Amino acid sequence: MNDRPAACRAAEALGHDYDHYDPAFALDPHADYAKLRAACPVAYTGNYGGFFVVSRFRDLNEVLHDAKAFSSWPADTPPTPGHSRALIPLEVDPPEHRRYRMIIDPIFRPRAIGGMADEIRSRAAELAARMAAEREFDFMEKFGRPFPGAVFLRLVGLDFSVEQRDQLCDWAGTILHTTTEGATHGDVEAQTAARLKAGRALNTFLRGLLDERLETPGEDILSRLIDAELPGQRKMDYHEILNFAYVLVLAGLDTVTTALGFSFLHLARRPDLQDRIAADPSLIPGAVEELLRYEPIVHASRTVMESRVLGGTQLQPGDRVVLPLASAHRDEEAFPDANELLIDRKIASTLVFGGGSHRCVGMHLARMELTIAFEEIFRRIPRFSLPPDAVLETHGGQTRSLMNLPFRTWRDD
Ligand code: HEM
Repeated sequence: MNDRPAACRAAEALGHDYDHYDPAFALDPHADYAKLRAACPVAYTGNYGGFFVVSRFRDLNEVLHDAKAFSSWPADTPPTPGHSRALIPLEVDPPEHRRYRMIIDPIFRPRAIGGMADEIRSRAAELAARMAAEREFDFMEKFGRPFPGAVFLRLVGLDFSVEQRDQLCDWAGTILHTTTEGATHGDVEAQTAARLKAGRALNTFLRGLLDERLETPGEDILSRLIDAELPGQRKMDYHEILNFAYVLVLAGLDTVTTALGFSFLHLARRPDLQDRIAADPSLIPGAVEELLRYEPIVHASRTVMESRVLGGTQLQPGDRVVLPLASAHRDEEAFPDANELLIDRKIASTLVFGGGSHRCVGMHLARMELTIAFEEIFRRIPRFSLPPDAVLETHGGQTRSLMNLPFRTWRDD
């Protein structure tokens, strides 16, 4: 993208450039986003090949609902070098996108996933009971990472194994954040190599699984995708199913992990909210929703296909835009007292799971996972806290990720 001299610059509004991969920024980006919303709501940065950051709820909403002018290909900023096959359905634009969603959506409807609730609950209960037996540990290691990994294994019909669960989390983490291979922020070459290696390993794992399901179909999601027909035409081919399974790992593990991590981080800082939820678990669905609003984790990206004026800024075909949902959901215009965590808040409209045609396939599953996790944890650990010397580690990128959460199953007060 050409340099854009006329555009409002993120670096001028912030006093430093915008970098959604910066780990420190990923931990608490809210003060910076407030500055961007006030001074430079569609801000240009020359980082990563140049892109615009859209920080207000209404502008972000407009982009998400205009797939004609804003293409989802490629989904990441910067795009991974060598990435040439669109991820299904994330990077496919309408009308083709609709055909995939017609297959996938029924599999993830509340009634369809409801049948998994008991098994999901027993995994959550098992992990929560182990935490309750200890005094101090890393919440992400004991619950945040293993729980969504276990749910994915159930989705694809694998017998539960701790090794496979942890391996899946490692691959997803490395592909999204290069977490396990030790590549540091800014070392683009090492990060790309680590991502490609993890991507190949995950692909090999999923191929093995798909081959098994082709031979011996079951009741799992892969078997249903093998059987499903694209409207009026054909079945999905091998590579399409593989591609979709790959997206499920990337989209479904790290997001829930980080949503759990940030939720319990904020609750650990708020004994009053802990006491209210423990005394009345019917508050849990509202608390889950408000915590998702308070700390959204996805940075969606789009490529401009048609000229548009957005928030007073002229965008041209070929421009890239990054959509930080964390900023939109602290926008006072959309959420009065946006910086307050109010678990009774009535949320009329949310983009936490995206909006428009690409709205999250897994949002009902994610809400179910989070609600069950809260219920099982609060039942056993109604009072908790952070060690005073807790140091938090984060990663940025397409999704922000909380890597650790030092946690105590008790409180002083
Ligand atoms: C708290 C957890 C989650 C959050 C915050 C979240 C958020 C999002 C967002 C914002 C998008 C839209 C991206 C875009 O427009 O570019 C999305 C898409 C998607 N999500 Fe989720 N997600 C979560 C959990 C899940 C789970 C559990 C699954 C599956 C098991 C899943 C599968 C997907 C898929 C397949 C897409 C692509 C949809 C499409 O392009 O049509 N997500 N998610």
